Order: sequence, then structure tokens, then C-alpha cells
Amino acid sequence: MIYTITLNPALDRTLWVKKTQSEDSNRIEREQRYAGGKGIDVSRVLTTLGISNKALGFVGGFAGEELEGRLLNAGVACDFIRISGETRTNIIINEMSTGNQLVFNAMGPEIKPYELMQMIHKIEKLEKPEMVVISGSLPPGVHPVIYQNIIEILKKRGARVILDADGDALKVGIQGFPDVFKPNVYELSRLVNRELKGIDEIVTAASRIHEEGVEIVLVSMGARGIILIGEKEEYWAYPPEVEVENTIGAGDSAVAGFVYGLARGKNLKEALVYAVAAGTATTLMPGTALCKRDDFLKLVPAIKLDMIGG
Ligand SMILES: Nc1ncnc2c1ncn2[C@@H]1O[C@H](COP(=O)(O)OP(=O)(O)OP(=O)(O)O)[C@@H](O)[C@H]1O
Ligand SMILES: [Mg+2]
Repeated sequence: MIYTITLNPALDRTLWVKKTQSEDSNRIEREQRYAGGKGIDVSRVLTTLGISNKALGFVGGFAGEELEGRLLNAGVACDFIRISGETRTNIIINEMSTGNQLVFNAMGPEIKPYELMQMIHKIEKLEKPEMVVISGSLPPGVHPVIYQNIIEILKKRGARVILDADGDALKVGIQGFPDVFKPNVYELSRLVNRELKGIDEIVTAASRIHEEGVEIVLVSMGARGIILIGEKEEYWAYPPEVEVENTIGAGDSAVAGFVYGLARGKNLKEALVYAVAAGTATTLMPGTALCKRDDFLKLVPAIKLDMIGG
């Protein structure tokens, strides 16, 4: 079974206003709520692509119920731990006259030590974990060592682990040596404490992480696609020029595309192409909407793949 882990999921509340103003109250023209959080995005895209999987995480309160109900309606299987706090709500304001978007991300509820341990025990007993995606920020009350611990448990159980995180959770988590690590250029730059610009600099930094013990490093670079550094395999796959609507969730979709490839027994090259196709397919969708299967399938043959240094 494929699992995703989102310790800090969110209910994304998206509002549309004609124009934001501070002198008068703002009239909301339309609003929509979505189940959000990076691992949850991965689960949603995997489900869209027909790959059965289960989303794990913490949920609580009304927002948590709403989030779970939305996933249920979307056909996404989940197995959440119920917490005493309330799942966070992120606010996204779309200004229709300008196309500007304001995003307010909430911190999330504090996770109590006994709630955290319920998650650890669940992970220790997961049924047949083949691939596990660990993704997103940590909620308050959880030490950054958590991802490292989870990775170590899962690797002992024979699972392939994919990590997509940032900040301290990443700095410590990478010490668990996930099988696949997917930073974007900014996350990788923060990890190595210097701004990476050119492809050469990015490849060098990613290669070092590979040499330290991470089997596959995928660096996503927005419209420039994704670089894969593995054992004796170095590729760069990139999308055609497309009309981008919104890039929110593109990275999560890319992770899902890669997992889709591996789940279908494809090689690294093919999985990389799927990653780029899924990421780019999500950029065609407005707001926080994720990719459509048709767009993904149409993009696959349009993705270019080069061998780095070859
Ligand atoms: N402007 C773009 N045009 C075409 N494709 C894009 C664009 N932006 C992102 N993508 C696609 O999505 C993939 C992942 O995007 P990106 O590098 O922005 O991830 P990220 O920063 O991790 O995103 P997220 O906000 O979801 O975490 C890219 O490799 C590419 O395939
Ligand atoms: Mg990302």
C-alpha cells in the first residue's frame, strides 16, 4: 500500500472579491473550501491518476471533520488520528480585478505528546507499507526530529520513503536518509545555506546529498522542470511552455507523478517524466485545484528528457 503523511493538514478557504479595500468592508463574491496540506495534495493527485493510497495525519474539530468529509467525497482513502485541537484553516483571497492572490497560512493546532505517539504507533503497525510520502510543515508541539524517526521506522519495515519538507523539519529529517528527497531550488538553497542559481550549482548540491546517502534527489525548478540525481543516473526533464493559471500544489503533484511511475513499475527516467507532467498539469488549473488526468496524459509525450553531462 502507498501512504502519505501530513502532520499539519489544513482546510483551505478560498474567497473571491472584486477588489480588496481597507476603507470599507469587502464583499465576498464567492467562496470555496478544499482539503489542503502537502501530503493530502499528493493523495488527491494519486487518486486522480488511479493509484490506490491512504492519507494519514492529524485532524480535529469542525474543520477536521470538513476536511475528512471532503476527502471522502473525492474518493481519497484516509486514516486520520483525531486530536483535541482544531485543524487549521488557511485563507486564500483572490482579487478578481487584478488577479492578485493573498495567502494566509495558519500555524495549526498544537499536537499533544500522547497524540504524537498515537501516530508513531500507527506507523509502526502500517499494513504492508511499500511507499510512503512524508510531506509538509510540522504543527506546533512536534520536535523537528519527528521526520527522521518516522523515516527510520518505515525503512526498517521495508518501505520506500519520499520526503518533501522545508526548514528544520528537513534539516533534521534528511538525517533519516529518505530514499527520495524532493526539494525545490529554494528549499535546497536553504538546506545548503547558499543561493543556488545555475543548473551546475544545483546538480553539485544535489549530488552531494546523494553521496551522503539519499538514493534519489529530485530538485524541482518551476518552469525549468526537474533534475534527478541517482546512482549513475542524472537526468533533467522539462515541460513545454504552457499557459499557467496557478502553480499552487505543482510540487506536490510532481511528487505524486513520480510515485505514480514507481507504483507502475517504471524506471527512474519514466517516473521523472511523469513527475514533470503532473506538476505542469496542475499549473493549468485555477486556484488550488490540482491536475486533471487528461491534461497529465496529454503532457507526458511533450516532456523532454536530457542526460546531464551526457
Ligand atoms: N511556470 C511553470 N510552467 C510549467 N510547469 C511548471 C511551472 N511551475 C511549476 N511547474 C511544474 O511543476 C513542477 C513542480 O513545480 P515547483 O518546482 O514550482 O514545485 P514546488 O516549489 O515544490 O511547489 P509547491 O508549491 O507545490 O510545493 C515543475 O517541475 C514543473 O513540472
Ligand atoms: Mg514543494
